[in-house]
Amino acid sequence: MWKSNYSRREFIKKNSLTGLGAVLAMSSTPAVFSFASRDAGTPAILGGTPVRTKSWPSWPVWDTGADEKFVVDVLRKGVWCRAGVNPNVSVVAEFEKQWAAKLGSKRCLAVVNGTNSLIIALRMLNIGGGDEVIVTPYTFIATISAILEVGAMPVFADVNPATFQIHPENIQAKITSRTRAILPVHILGLPSDMPAIMDIARKNDLLVIEDACQAWLAEINNRKVGTIGNVGCFSFQNSKHLAIGEGGALVSDDEEFMDRCHSYHDTGSRYGRMEDLVGGTYVMRGNNLRMTEYQAAIGLNQMKRIEEETTKRNRNAEYLKSRISKIPGILPYELYSHVTRASFHLFPFRYKKDEFSGLTRPEFLRAMHAEGVRGSGGYSGNLNQMPYLNEAFQSKNYQKMYSRRELDFERFVARNRCPESERLCNEEAVWFSQSMLLSETSDMDDIYNAIEKVHRNSRRIKAGMSS
Ligand SMILES: Cc1ncc(COP(=O)(O)O)c(C=O)c1O
Repeated sequence: MWKSNYSRREFIKKNSLTGLGAVLAMSSTPAVFSFASRDAGTPAILGGTPVRTKSWPSWPVWDTGADEKFVVDVLRKGVWCRAGVNPNVSVVAEFEKQWAAKLGSKRCLAVVNGTNSLIIALRMLNIGGGDEVIVTPYTFIATISAILEVGAMPVFADVNPATFQIHPENIQAKITSRTRAILPVHILGLPSDMPAIMDIARKNDLLVIEDACQAWLAEINNRKVGTIGNVGCFSFQNSKHLAIGEGGALVSDDEEFMDRCHSYHDTGSRYGRMEDLVGGTYVMRGNNLRMTEYQAAIGLNQMKRIEEETTKRNRNAEYLKSRISKIPGILPYELYSHVTRASFHLFPFRYKKDEFSGLTRPEFLRAMHAEGVRGSGGYSGNLNQMPYLNEAFQSKNYQKMYSRRELDFERFVARNRCPESERLCNEEAVWFSQSMLLSETSDMDDIYNAIEKVHRNSRRIKAGMSS
């Protein structure tokens, strides 16, 4: 059944696991007018020939020779849990060493997933009940869940719609005496305006936790995102550019903080500087959030390709942007001037339906799908307004930590309105998947041609869809 508003994961899964050709063959291709004559000028949704029938690259990518051998060798050692902290012995420790080096960070801690990397970061920075954390609503749910998990209060600051990123001016406006931290998310793999955010943090004595879960190897002024704030958090979930299936990491130059993170993720056991501080085996309340050896082996394999793939995505994204920005009603992402590299976890643009004869975003996406180019409307709901927040506010802990007024859901929603983010979610954002950017530059022409064809024929398509 055709569904225009896929969640990000559903969308990526469809694109990466099945390949578009197969999707088109299997699914109900929106052949609203498939009885019409099939010619190249006629939109495919009206029965014409699609711009593209070739499939797009699948994801994840791995080498069935060397990559698989390395993972099997690790499995055959029979030590599947984390084998300590020495990179010569533990694959997890080697993974941490290499990821830290790639990012130019002193330390890295590998953990079970990106969600928990955020929770560890917040918890070990001692952010909790009564604290406010300023965050964008234009993100994946895990960013906000992490704030709620430590009992802090998310405060939503609206985005700059041109960049899709949290707007520094809106952050400034949300600071109160209870603000402890800013949590910028380099959403879609495009860097947030970190120089401005760090400036605000310095002036207001705030911590900065970077959610870089979609932004591996992205850079600002040649410095990797995730290494600019107090701590950076990464995800290695299946759709991610360093795909492990599940996995995550924190990076920071603060050795003492990273020692505490290590202890916490390893049942609260003594580690590093924590060894000298306190007697006894367990020095804090901990958790078990350790990565396994075979996960790290998959991660090390993926790390071999990420540099080259990032360069390719950047090259294709720039080319595609230069072409489609000429089509009226298509406003591709903008990068801040200090961005030296993006990751392009997704290729986003804003879609203005008035330039497409009023075709709604779902209608535009259906017409594009018929042309063989599948896009998504991206995040389909507004995280600053959803019931999960109220569920947290009704919990025993929140009731004890905050006033009734603060937990009044209607007031919260009114205080946290973010019209720009809401417009992106509800009407304008369109994404193409990162794996499409791993095809050849000539394949980008298919994307351009499909959009241009839908634009040129938008009145006909609208009439056809309305009749
Ligand atoms: C922006 C963002 N933050 C956090 C996460 C959570 O990462 P994970 O799925 O590894 O827990 C994700 C994953 O999709 C994400 O996209």
